Amino acid sequence: MNDAEGLKKIAGEAACEFVKSGMRVGLGTGSTVKYTVLELARRIQEEGLQIVGVPTSIATENLARENGVPLVELGSLDGLDIVIDGTDEFDPNFQLIKGGGAALLREKIVAQQSAAMVVVADARKQVECLGAFGIPIEITPFACDVTVSRLETLLKCNVQLRKNGSEYILTDNGNCIADAHTGPNILDPLATEATILNIAGVVQVGLFNNMCDAVVLASKDGVKTLMNPAGRLKRA
Ligand code: 5RP
Repeated sequence: MNDAEGLKKIAGEAACEFVKSGMRVGLGTGSTVKYTVLELARRIQEEGLQIVGVPTSIATENLARENGVPLVELGSLDGLDIVIDGTDEFDPNFQLIKGGGAALLREKIVAQQSAAMVVVADARKQVECLGAFGIPIEITPFACDVTVSRLETLLKCNVQLRKNGSEYILTDNGNCIADAHTGPNILDPLATEATILNIAGVVQVGLFNNMCDAVVLASKDGVKTLMNPAGRLKRA
């Protein structure tokens, strides 16, 4: 395991401290939270941890099933106790850019149903100002090029539809996904989110504002948990 992968594993596993028996847990998507799912599976098998999970993507659903994490439909529960998810960037106010793995729509639905959100990250994800990582935006296949040019006009930046060769990459929901390359200058993420969501062809945007309660951050100096002072969580 190389250094970057090792940091993902440390962060992903450490976040499991927030999970106790009886909890309903949102399971995020990506290469960092993969280690959270695997550690929860280990605790279920070896320590008798009792939880139910709600996956945020087909990939996470498959991973959880293969490793024996019990899953339920989000709609069968009256909310979740916690969601643990990865991020592409987080800023000093705990605002996030997510969706690098194209799972942002389900991730946001699950996060909105959760009483708390813990993010797992390595030090590369910590930024002063959001936007170096292009903002992922899920858009309808219908007239997706029209939506893209409207986004370019409004955001004054290049917006690129994700493609595999000449084929659009589709999300788990059958939508297209694009990335808005604003550069690291998103000074008001709430305003940017509102601007993007105002376009009819936009299904959802990967700006996750005022959702993240804590970041479990792994760096070469070890792992630490950054608590959002405005968040809903006390330390694990
Ligand atoms: C998927 C996401 C991921 O959580 C995000 O891209 C981080 O992934 P990774 O841990 O692999 O860097 O938002 O839509």
